[in-house]
Amino acid sequence: MNIVTEVNDWISMRKKMANQTIGFIPTMGNLHAGHMSLCERSKYENDVTIVSIFVNPTQFNNQHDLMHYPRTLENDIEQLTKAKVDYLFAPHAESMYQDHYEIQVMETELSKVLEGEHRPGHFNGMLTIVLKLLNLVRANKAYFGEKDYQQLLLVKKMVASLFLSTEIIACETIRNENGLALSSRNSRLDKEQLDTAEHFSALLRSHLNDENVIAELIKLGFKVDYIVQKWQRRLGAVVLGDVRLIDNVNYN
Ligand code: PAF
Repeated sequence: MNIVTEVNDWISMRKKMANQTIGFIPTMGNLHAGHMSLCERSKYENDVTIVSIFVNPTQFNNQHDLMHYPRTLENDIEQLTKAKVDYLFAPHAESMYQDHYEIQVMETELSKVLEGEHRPGHFNGMLTIVLKLLNLVRANKAYFGEKDYQQLLLVKKMVASLFLSTEIIACETIRNENGLALSSRNSRLDKEQLDTAEHFSALLRSHLNDENVIAELIKLGFKVDYIVQKWQRRLGAVVLGDVRLIDNVNYN
C-alpha cells in the first residue's frame, strides 16, 4: 500500500490514476469491521481504492473528545494492507488547513437539528473537510456508513448543491453480535459499559414509543441527548460515562 502524508505528493500521485475508476473511503482512523466493509465494497466496485485517515479538528466541538479520540495508525495500516487497499492518504492538520479554517462550508437547515443542535459547528467542520478530501481524491464513488445518518444526508446534499462529480454510496451499519453499532468510540467503553451500550440499539428497534425508550435508557444509566423518528428511521444519541454514542435504525 502506498502511504502519502503530504498534500502536494498526493496531487502528483493522483495524476497517475487518470484512466482508472476510484473508490474512496474517508475516515478518522481507529479502523474497525465497519470501515473494512466499506473498503471491501470499494475494492469490488473500482480499480483503485483510497482510504484517508485524518482526525479532523474542526468537527470536534469538544476538545476533550478530540484529545481522547483513539489514534491507532500502525494497526490501521496493518488492516488496510491486509485488505489490499491501494492508497492511504493521511495528511497533517497544517496541510489541510493552510487557510486556518477561514474558508468553511456551511449548511443552514439540516445541520441545525439533532447532532447539529448538540454539537454546534460539528457539521461545518465535517462538510469542509469532506469537500477538501473529495476535491483532492476526485473519486468516482465515495462510501459512507449509515450509522452517521445525518452526516450522510448532509454530504449527499453538499455534493448535489455544489455539483461535485463523486457519487455518494450509503452502506449499511455494521453491528456486533449483540446489535451494537461498530464505532471507534466503543473502544473507550469498559466491559460493563459495553454490555449496557448493547441495549441502545435494541431499544431503538423496540416497539416502545420514544418517551418510553428515553425512560428505559435513563434507567440503564444513559444520559439521553435525543430519541426521534425522522427520515423513516428512529435516531438516537446517548452518553455513557464520558462517551457519546449515536445510532439509527430503519423504522416505519
Ligand atoms: O465519519 C467520519 O469518520 C468523519 O466525519 C469523516 C467523514 C471522515 C470526516 O472527517
